[in-house]
Amino acid sequence: MGSVSIFAGSVYGNAQHVAEEVQTMLEAEGISCEVFTDPDVSDFTDAESVLVITSTTGQGDIPPNLELFHAELRETFPLMDGKPFAVVGLGDSSYGESYCGGGRQFFELLNELQGKAISEMLEVDAMETLSPEEEVVPWVKTQIEALTQA
Ligand SMILES: Cc1cc2nc3c(=O)[nH]c(=O)nc-3n(C[C@H](O)[C@H](O)[C@H](O)COP(=O)(O)O)c2cc1C
Repeated sequence: MGSVSIFAGSVYGNAQHVAEEVQTMLEAEGISCEVFTDPDVSDFTDAESVLVITSTTGQGDIPPNLELFHAELRETFPLMDGKPFAVVGLGDSSYGESYCGGGRQFFELLNELQGKAISEMLEVDAMETLSPEEEVVPWVKTQIEALTQA
C-alpha cells in the first residue's frame, strides 16, 4: 500500500520527534516508512513518496543535518516526474519574515524538481503549540491517500 520516506530536519529534536510519531502512525496504517536524518540523494530518488518535516534555524535557514542534502539536490537536480510530496514546517512566528523558512526552501525546491505537491505546506507555530505532533500526525493521516497514490 505504498511507502513514505520522511526527511527530518531538526536542531533540538522537535521535528525529529514529530517525524517519529508520524512514522508510528503510518506503520500502524500498514504503510512502510523510513525516517532519514542524514540522507543522501539516492534516498530521495529511491523514495516512492516524500515527506519533509523540518524546523527552521538561524534566519529562515534549514537545520544543519539537512543542509548538505538540500544543496546536493539543488546541484544534481533529480527530477521527480510527478512524485507526490508534502512538507511540514515547524517554526516560530515571532521570527517574522523568516517564519518556517526551512520548510519553505524545501517546498520551493521540490516544486522546481517537478514533484506533485499534495497540499500547501503545513506550518506549525511554536508560539501556538508545545505539542507539534498533535497537529502534524492527524494532518498527515488525512493526506495518506494522496501521498501513497503514485
Ligand atoms: C537559534 C534559533 C533560530 C530560529 N530561527 C527561526 C526562524 O528563522 N524561523 C522560524 O520560523 N523559526 C525559527 N526558530 C524556531 C524553531 O524552528 C522552532 O522552535 C522549532 O520548533 C525547533 O524545532 P527543532 O527542535 O526540530 O529544531 C529558531 C529557533 C532557534 C533556537
